[in-house]
Amino acid sequence: MQTVAHSLFEEVAALDQQYVLPVYRRLPVLLVRGHGARLYDEQGNAYLDFLAGIAVCGVGHCHPHLVQRIAEQAATLMHVSNFFYTEPQARLAQRLCELSGMQKVFFCNSGAEANEMAIKVARKFANTIKRTPDYEIVALEGSFHGRTMGALSATMQVKYQEPFKPLLPGFRMVPRNDVHALREAFSERTAAVILEPIQGEGGIHPIDEAYLREARQLCDRYNALLIADEVQTGFGRTGAWFAYQHAGVLPDVVALAKGLGGGFPVGACLMRGVAAEVLQAGEHGTTYGGNPLACSAALAVIEIIEREGLLANAQRVGNYLKHKLEQLQQAGAPIREVRGRGLMLGVELSLPVARTVVQKALERRLILNAIGDYVLRLVPPLVITERDADEAVEILQRVLQEV
Ligand SMILES: Cc1ncc(COP(=O)(O)O)c(C=O)c1O
Repeated sequence: MQTVAHSLFEEVAALDQQYVLPVYRRLPVLLVRGHGARLYDEQGNAYLDFLAGIAVCGVGHCHPHLVQRIAEQAATLMHVSNFFYTEPQARLAQRLCELSGMQKVFFCNSGAEANEMAIKVARKFANTIKRTPDYEIVALEGSFHGRTMGALSATMQVKYQEPFKPLLPGFRMVPRNDVHALREAFSERTAAVILEPIQGEGGIHPIDEAYLREARQLCDRYNALLIADEVQTGFGRTGAWFAYQHAGVLPDVVALAKGLGGGFPVGACLMRGVAAEVLQAGEHGTTYGGNPLACSAALAVIEIIEREGLLANAQRVGNYLKHKLEQLQQAGAPIREVRGRGLMLGVELSLPVARTVVQKALERRLILNAIGDYVLRLVPPLVITERDADEAVEILQRVLQEV
């Protein structure tokens, strides 16, 4: 049946509902433009964006330098395949290794793909170097590594896994932050541990630095690979390039995406040591991985983060925001806990109203995200100021008084 559209919003919403697979729950807003930490709907209303495209747009929306680099590269060379050398890919690989302490880079297009690569490295490492075909990859309860079948098999949350069973074998779940259980889980069969330094989709649960260090030591003792999934925590989000750097721990494999391209889809799997020697020519690849356009975008993101001091900004404004949220809690707001680091914060509410809070905040032009019924996720662009933080907390305060 043909629908009669009354406004652009209604027209787009009707088309979306008719033709787009409904795997996403939409909020009732049509976004048409972005600038810095603000998004605009088709009527020109401005929204303060504390979601940043799910921890993606770290340098803010439409940063002029990022836009310029993408436009120039698009007008020069977009894509040629990995049969050829291209300068942006080589230069980006160098920069990523310098920033991370890794030695080799595989480029892909998303976080799930970066983790697929990490899992393939661990599997081949177990089969051919460790020679333990009955290997196990240890993953943490509450983790999220993506929705492709390998990454999903490492994602230890029933709601994501259940409909898609059987999963890939060889994963073993441990409770997060339980050092004793981690030690118990390790054996000669352990090929790798995969973890997020702060669990994102699981509800913003930081992994203790002592736990990360123990994981590193156990991997050294049992000849296993430490895989850090920095898809959400990486690229400045926590106030360092990579969250593992806070703990002084160096993984063997690092999965990256989200903030890396600042909004342009690009992922990467970084490796060092034996992990960087596992795969041979022809054993993995992807058509778009590391194309000149994606790599130029990521190079521009690095330049912006460095020039504008965004790591320090994420740390400073993140601390400020966390403090403000804790003050809200102390003043009696229904907040159980404020968790996280830098500009990756979770507010656990004491009432199951997170989704209502998101909707009411949206009506007041603040974009937030709910993880389940209790947790609000705050992952704004790294460019926000203390004034933006004040504005967001004021709106949140009013909304929490209403619910
Ligand atoms: C830690 C982590 N790993 C992997 C993924 C999957 O990334 P993508 O959605 O780009 O496949 C996500 C996405 O939220 C994530 O937060």
